[in-house]
Amino acid sequence: MSLRTRTVDHTRTVDHVEDVSPGSGALPPRAWYASSDAGSLSLNGTWRFRLSPTADAEDDSFAAPAYDAGDWAEISVPGHWVLQGHGSPVYTNHRYPFPVDPPRVPTENPTGDHLRVFDLPADWPTAADGRARLRFDGVESCARVWLNGTDLGDFKGSRLPHEFPVGPLLRAAGNVLAVRVHQWSAGSYLEDQDQWWLPGIFRDVTLLHRPAGGVVDFFVHASYDHTAGEGTLRVDSDVAGRVTVPELGIDIATGEPATAPVAPWSAESPRLYDGVLATGGERVPLRIGFRTVELSNGLIEINGRPVLFKGVNRHEWHPERGRALDLDTMRRDVLLMKRHNINAVRTSHYPPHPAFLDLCDTYGLWVIDECDLETHGFTEQGWRDNPVDDDRWTPALLDRAARMVERDKNHPSVVVWSLGNEAGTGRGLTAMAGWIRARDTSRPIHYEGDRDCRDTDVYSRMYAGHAEVERIGRGLDGGPRRRRALPFLLCEYAHAMGNGPGGLAEYQRLFEAHGRLQGGFVWEWIDHGITHPGLGHAYGGDFGEELHDGNFVCDGLLFPDRRPSPGLAEYKKVIEPVALTVSPSRERSRRPGTHPRDTVRVTNRYDFTDLSALAFTWAYEAEGGTVRSGTLPVPALAPGESAEVELPAVPAGDSAGEAHWTVRAVLASGTAWAPPGHVVAWGQAPVSPRRVPYVAATARPAHGDGLVALGPGVFDARTGAPRTIGGVALTGLRLDVWRATTDNDDGAAWQSDPRHGPLWRGLGLHRMRHRLDAVEAGGDALTVRTRVAPAGGELGLSAVYRWTSDGDRLRLTVSTAPEGHWTVPLPRLGIRFGLSGADRVRWYGGGPGEAYPDTRSASAVGRWESTVDDMQTPYVRPQENGARIDVRWAELGGLRVEGDPVFLLTARRWTTEQLDAAAHRTDLVPGDTVWVNLDHGQHGIGSQSCGPGPLPRYHLRAEPAEFSFVFSPHPGTHLA
Ligand code: GAL
Repeated sequence: MSLRTRTVDHTRTVDHVEDVSPGSGALPPRAWYASSDAGSLSLNGTWRFRLSPTADAEDDSFAAPAYDAGDWAEISVPGHWVLQGHGSPVYTNHRYPFPVDPPRVPTENPTGDHLRVFDLPADWPTAADGRARLRFDGVESCARVWLNGTDLGDFKGSRLPHEFPVGPLLRAAGNVLAVRVHQWSAGSYLEDQDQWWLPGIFRDVTLLHRPAGGVVDFFVHASYDHTAGEGTLRVDSDVAGRVTVPELGIDIATGEPATAPVAPWSAESPRLYDGVLATGGERVPLRIGFRTVELSNGLIEINGRPVLFKGVNRHEWHPERGRALDLDTMRRDVLLMKRHNINAVRTSHYPPHPAFLDLCDTYGLWVIDECDLETHGFTEQGWRDNPVDDDRWTPALLDRAARMVERDKNHPSVVVWSLGNEAGTGRGLTAMAGWIRARDTSRPIHYEGDRDCRDTDVYSRMYAGHAEVERIGRGLDGGPRRRRALPFLLCEYAHAMGNGPGGLAEYQRLFEAHGRLQGGFVWEWIDHGITHPGLGHAYGGDFGEELHDGNFVCDGLLFPDRRPSPGLAEYKKVIEPVALTVSPSRERSRRPGTHPRDTVRVTNRYDFTDLSALAFTWAYEAEGGTVRSGTLPVPALAPGESAEVELPAVPAGDSAGEAHWTVRAVLASGTAWAPPGHVVAWGQAPVSPRRVPYVAATARPAHGDGLVALGPGVFDARTGAPRTIGGVALTGLRLDVWRATTDNDDGAAWQSDPRHGPLWRGLGLHRMRHRLDAVEAGGDALTVRTRVAPAGGELGLSAVYRWTSDGDRLRLTVSTAPEGHWTVPLPRLGIRFGLSGADRVRWYGGGPGEAYPDTRSASAVGRWESTVDDMQTPYVRPQENGARIDVRWAELGGLRVEGDPVFLLTARRWTTEQLDAAAHRTDLVPGDTVWVNLDHGQHGIGSQSCGPGPLPRYHLRAEPAEFSFVFSPHPGTHLA
């Protein structure tokens, strides 16, 4: 008997999918530009779509012009099919969501066939002139393209452009464009960025007419000589032509230099000159920014000056459309950045939509343009088989480098090329760096993974703690000689996941103090939450992924809907370009009766511009209310200069309470990115101190009916707990040490250090029990003695509540002391209680937004008003949030509370335990009670979700403490 084996060839149509080469058939990369004369036809819109579960569908008959796709679904291009009801998104940080066996991919390889029929516009110039190109700006992860039945080729490199020559194939009407897209390909191994895996044609598809004699590729070299104040322009072009810049009187041949006095381009003053490149067949508008980037004196100098990058890492994100961004969304990002004093963007971790770079040129942002390359998942196997150290992959890496550089080389905003992110080390990266250096000598090269800086021009790190950054700043970090001579960047720091990041101000002070530290880029710009009908915003695991990294994908300064988080307000304040330091006059205290002026020290922290675009205002505020205000004449200081400016005389007769000066720098006139009056920077300082609340203990506790009355308070005689104050019901008043842990509290798993023993939850700080030891009502006080401790251990806190009253007001003094051997700080220390109803909240203290000990720079002392609902910060994964810091007094729910000393205030319609248990915002269901926390202290926030924890000075140590609150009825805010 003969045994016949039949082998089914599953590979026939999928060879290219698992091929390490970048593809075949595409034209060489070139600059991205919009021509004035050559027509273009957008092929964005509704396409026909069919999804197959595997890539081995041998049937490519759909590409034939006669194919009837009438029963196919429809899909929007640009778009990701998994966000349009076909399959679902997958989120992993660095693990590949498929077996690692490069370059092979799983059999389950969702494959989307896309079809679009189009006619050429009636005025389309000579259809068959042979030069038209079909351009794809971004397809994830691999595509094969047919036009009118002809196979054009295939490509990988998801966030890079690919063009095919299509001229001879075009017809006046009924052109059939067929694109088969595979979710997984060999290219996926190079695209392991920490983000959602989102297949599809997610950027524009365009048909470009190319006139005879038209421009093909060109390179604008526009440098600036700061000593002469002159720019030199040379435009190299594949097709010879002329370059004119009318405003500069420049009219030169391509390849020829011209020099003229110009205003340089910078992120602060993004001066662009309009020019034209004209060849025999086409006129291409140019937007020329003259600037020179050099490594000089161990620093990145631009136009002769070292710059300080105040940056963010920007992934492209839209909560409904994923990475298919429209122009408005891109512009919103740029405007939000400019309005928050951000001057730089790292396009983590791939070249953005090309229009984004136009916006950066126009509005002014320094850009680190990063190649679409990350192989982070290989870290799981000690980087064995890493494609970047395997020559077979080098052509693909070089193709990626070339596609980025050629596309983006003419943008003045792009000042640094980045080879990619977290791809280990290897020959492929060296080859990329070599290729880039040969092609463009005008920009330094960045890659964080190159610790020795063999291939790079800047020493770059991520998430280094303050102490290490300081050592690097002082040049004490050692390392190879080449590295020691290079400037330093934190390409990622201050992980903005959930509540935080803490410690921004301290990083910024280090950057300002040490020249070698040229700043950093906060990780990251926006939370990648996906709008979800049942969950609000979805994150990893919400689509049933078998491997995922949860809400680690929500770590931005913006919420998914682009509302700024408190972290962005903090960053804006910390990086403000003008420092305003108000100093009360030292003489006043020495010579009472005289009125020497207080002053404000103004320091220009811009790198290039003087202060003439700003107007300065002052306000004198008593108890948070403006008493007088005016404008402040400030000289147009040059960058780096400071001046001491006198404030007006302190208004007479206003020495009663606490007073502050607040000085602001605002835009004197509107700019392209903000209206006049927009606040750029501010400073505040107290003029006279606060009077702490005093309550004479004159009332005596009175017993009756199981109750104790003391002043406006009625207490339970057995437990000593307050039941009502001035008729307002209170429940559950007691010491509180727990907060719903933040992402930073929880820390990334690999960060927890076993030497520190069990963390908060391990110790049971979330399940403290309150043992009542004594209730003493006598003399002038009601005193309640307790011990607060979790089951299972010896740690605890003594807590004594002492109530006194002057008949109208009640003073509560809490004295607490740790018992046992505490090795960890406390999450919080204060009291909590429930109110039966509260809506409006008024307070005098820090505001308007959330603030914690190490995230408090943007908090200004003032009189603020909000509602309980608006005081919640909508972190995608619910966690401790919404505290207002340095509160002197607050009014809510019919009560007024004054603190001695100041306190942190939180109020919410759910308990801390409910907040702690919630996974999504939709899990939080408002109850009838408003839970109020008045904290003597909170532990700092830090950025330990991927970085250092709070600095030691922000630890809330378990140590003896005493703090008081004065309660009185305040009918104005009673809503019961
Ligand atoms: C970095 C990485 C980023 C992101 C971040 C954590 O290591 O470069 O892409 O994963 O950590 O959110």
